[in-house]
Amino acid sequence: MLAGGKLVAFPTETVYGLGAHACDDAAVARVFAAKGRPDFNPLIVHVADLETAATHAVFTPLAELLARTFWPGALTLVLERRTDSPLSLLACAGLPTVALRVPAHPVARAVLETAGVPVAAPSANPSGRLSPTTAAHVREGLGEAADMILDGGPCQVGLESTILDATGSTAVLLRPGGIAREAIEAVAGQLREHVTPGAITAPGQLASHYAPRLPLRLNATEAREGETLLAFGPVPHVPNLSPSGDVVEAAANLFAMLHTLDASGASAIAVMPIPEEGLGRAINDRLRRAATPPA
Ligand code: TXA
Ligand code: MG
Repeated sequence: MLAGGKLVAFPTETVYGLGAHACDDAAVARVFAAKGRPDFNPLIVHVADLETAATHAVFTPLAELLARTFWPGALTLVLERRTDSPLSLLACAGLPTVALRVPAHPVARAVLETAGVPVAAPSANPSGRLSPTTAAHVREGLGEAADMILDGGPCQVGLESTILDATGSTAVLLRPGGIAREAIEAVAGQLREHVTPGAITAPGQLASHYAPRLPLRLNATEAREGETLLAFGPVPHVPNLSPSGDVVEAAANLFAMLHTLDASGASAIAVMPIPEEGLGRAINDRLRRAATPPA
């Protein structure tokens, strides 16, 4: 089901995740929709082993040490994404980095080995609610939004993974979690604290957050001279986020289409209005950030 683009909730040792094929923009967009996530916070990509992880990200010596010590386990590493990685741009919220984890739970491992694809999985709860630690929590929170829920009993850790930025030579703690700081410092030396401890760096707050090189003009009804139009709704013969006006489809297409139009040779991208509802709010949030010139 995962390989075919369906959403499968599965247990990990930390919390239950809502999984989607991490290279499938449409499946990843359905994860954001299912959670009612207000913005495109990047997702953790789960893989079966370090070798697979290394095909998607650049492993610094520090990252390799951490992975060899704590994987499989409750540690997520934020690393520079390899340019040849086929991961969905939406899964990584357009960032140049990717968060990777090799879970230890036997059901999660079986899922990853059987599906044979990287699996993007946020915690399987509606946005803003508690993370689920049983299959019943997932069913209560997400209902029919998950195509399948695998019941592996209660999660052993019950707290999300520890997230470390390991792109440099000193690890930066982005989120405290299932693996204690002391255990990490025993192998990797003293951690640097993220500026706002406990908070997660959202795409729009990062200096390096994705924005096209070209200026964006929002709420456009047509392309002016030199502009290329990014349509939404029934407009033929132009790049179109969703000809049928479906915000979930538009979310799946957003990053990939902006990327393509950025290289089109036009002087600016004119984007038609997107309704401020469902994933449309997240799309508009990202478009507004992208349209704001760097300070
Ligand atoms: O234990 C866990 O980590 C669970 C299980 C399912 O693996 N997953 C989880 O995912 O807690 P989620 O989406 O609820 O939290 C992932 C966090 C997000 O807050 C996001 O900001 C951060 O990881 N994240 C993902 N990619 C990132 C990146 N490239 N840079 C910085 N933070 C990132
Ligand atoms: Mg969560």
